[in-house]
Amino acid sequence: MAMKLIHENNLLFRLDAGESSYAFQVTPDGRLQHLYWGGRVDAMEELARLNGKNSYPSEPSLDPQDNQCWREHQLWEFAPEDIGVYAPATATVRNAWGNVVTDPRYVSHRLLPGKPALAGLPAAYAEPQEAQTLEVTLEDPNTHVQFVLRYTAFQNLSAIARSMVVVNRGDAPAELLRADSLTADFWHESLDVCFFDGFWGKERCFHREALQGGRKTLESTRGLSGHAMNPSVILCDRTTTEETGRAYGALLVYSGNFAIEVDQSPLYRTRLSLGLHPQRFQWLLQPGESFQTPEALQAFSPNGLGTLSRTFHDLLRNHLIPRRWRDAPRPILINNWEAMHFDFSKEKLVNLARTAKENGVDLLVLDDGWFGKRNSDRCALGDWTANEKKISGTMGELADAIRAQGVKFGLWFEPEMVSQDSDLFRKHPDWAIQVPNHSLSYHRFQYVLDFSRPEVVDYVYEKVAAIIQEAKLDYMKWDANREMTEVGSTALPPERQGELPHRYVLGLYDLYQRLSHSFPNLLIEGCSAGGGRFDAGILAFSPQFWTSDNSDAFNRLFIQYGTSFFYPCSAMGAHVAVNWFPQRYSPIETRAAVAFAGTFGYELDLNQMPPEELNQVKAQCQFYRQHHHLVQNGDYYRLTSPYEDNVVAWMNLAKDKSEFLLTVVFVRWDAAFYGRNLRLAGLNPNDTYSDGTQSWPASLLLQAGYPVSSPKNGDMISLQIHFQKA
Ligand code: GLA
Repeated sequence: MAMKLIHENNLLFRLDAGESSYAFQVTPDGRLQHLYWGGRVDAMEELARLNGKNSYPSEPSLDPQDNQCWREHQLWEFAPEDIGVYAPATATVRNAWGNVVTDPRYVSHRLLPGKPALAGLPAAYAEPQEAQTLEVTLEDPNTHVQFVLRYTAFQNLSAIARSMVVVNRGDAPAELLRADSLTADFWHESLDVCFFDGFWGKERCFHREALQGGRKTLESTRGLSGHAMNPSVILCDRTTTEETGRAYGALLVYSGNFAIEVDQSPLYRTRLSLGLHPQRFQWLLQPGESFQTPEALQAFSPNGLGTLSRTFHDLLRNHLIPRRWRDAPRPILINNWEAMHFDFSKEKLVNLARTAKENGVDLLVLDDGWFGKRNSDRCALGDWTANEKKISGTMGELADAIRAQGVKFGLWFEPEMVSQDSDLFRKHPDWAIQVPNHSLSYHRFQYVLDFSRPEVVDYVYEKVAAIIQEAKLDYMKWDANREMTEVGSTALPPERQGELPHRYVLGLYDLYQRLSHSFPNLLIEGCSAGGGRFDAGILAFSPQFWTSDNSDAFNRLFIQYGTSFFYPCSAMGAHVAVNWFPQRYSPIETRAAVAFAGTFGYELDLNQMPPEELNQVKAQCQFYRQHHHLVQNGDYYRLTSPYEDNVVAWMNLAKDKSEFLLTVVFVRWDAAFYGRNLRLAGLNPNDTYSDGTQSWPASLLLQAGYPVSSPKNGDMISLQIHFQKA
């Protein structure tokens, strides 16, 4: 029987995605009104009876026809601009008369099997039997600008992918000032909002706060999604916990400027909007031209934040990251950066590769400093030719020497940047993003290349591809260490300067796409001064991202906890490093236990390790190889929060529940702590599990808990236990 996820009756639409439903309808005047988003419902026309306050006012003495300035309190599916909807509009177009009224009406709709790709932008993918897509076309009667809203419902996930295409069907130019990917309206009094802000070394801090009216904006105007705010958000009931209660999540598949707005009217209409940041966006649409917005992914959980996270993990793992890496085990890598910084030689690298191989590491990554005259972070970005003196020969020869030790080889690049002191900048100063008559701010002595210019992207592609080819690279670390300032392009006319931030991101994706296409087996790991551009747009090309430069195990508990709300363990680069701060010592077992919850590796010099620690590396690599499938493909359960608990614990459970890995970190030593019973999650209560010594009914593990206590005295002591179903 053909799959039916999208139902339509008299222009009322209901999308059934996994265990959720989402509904809206066309009003008699042709506008789009939102009806419902939540757990699965079977109703159709009855949905329109819900009190969405769409027929104002309830006060009988007021004339229902005379309330048109109050439209902001209604639930909109496409929120119009400047007709009494003062909360964020879905799209804003400045027309030929110079005003911004944008009030499109229904024209047509159609259903498509599977999920169409987005022109020029990364997006989730689905086979025809996995999803169904609804396209609804609206047209503004004044300007004849059309808005094609696209919704894809996934069959087995409570998730919907959304985007919009704006087409100028009129005969005058139109200026697009706002084009959101998602508008979702709620009729709700007591919602909390969760979001993730951060800084270098302190990425994705978890925040949860009550919405109490007004507007909250989570944003980036930095040119990249950045450290400061992740392009993701959760709204949930005030009573929602990890395991219970309703939760609504949304994230943008985008790596540039974004705005997420949560606007609550005094009458409790709450609007969630996600999209390009309107403050740094403007796009001129000539007659016949169209504009594709980025995609937004939304998901619903009736069972708390944990289920919401697992839905996003499955969505990103199975429908977003490159298919090539969906099921392939990731290599255990060693990166030389923290061990050597700019001070390396062929001999040091070959020695490191040898020790790495002896201990079970798969891949050696040569980080920054191999190109041009780069011996510090002050120069040479853009000069992507090997420094043959430093590496004692060609890059091909170095790669062969590394591979001769039995490990794969990877290199660091920062393709989007140019150093002030570089041959590239001396030759093409106009290739940097800049504005006339204003000095250029730099950071790390570097500028951002103008990727809105195809010739710049072509140049970088050729340089980077030549090295990949010569060294037959298995892996590339793609870094981006600064944000944009003085955002202008020497190649765009004044009326198109506002297009630069988005054109830049299109150029970035073009480069990713071309390199991925030319080198389908190249594993690209994203990075941005640590975990600064950890977003779903990059994950569509890079299945893993360096989560943070901060590898301190205590700080990582928080960083990985925050990251896990949307992003799967398999996306989080996590390495064992030396103890960063003399004030805080984490034993190597704990540093490894924390790094096991990501794509595992090392960020230190194995040849300088104390022998008693080096002995553990081999065992750690074996352990990871044995259990990594649970981390990569299993279900992740946050058992406690580092923000609230001194005992931080999580589980990686096989999808078929046949086995799981329990990790517990006892953060601070406490003389009066004798252990506790830690309640596990996700198990089938009728099953029984062995921890290798004793057997445990799952009902007991779920209800009473599993007894844990710190195996040693001291801070940051950990336990890792593998359970097998009997
Ligand atoms: C950034 C990255 C680091 C390292 C350095 C090299 O800071 O986050 O991992 O690659 O650049 O300069």
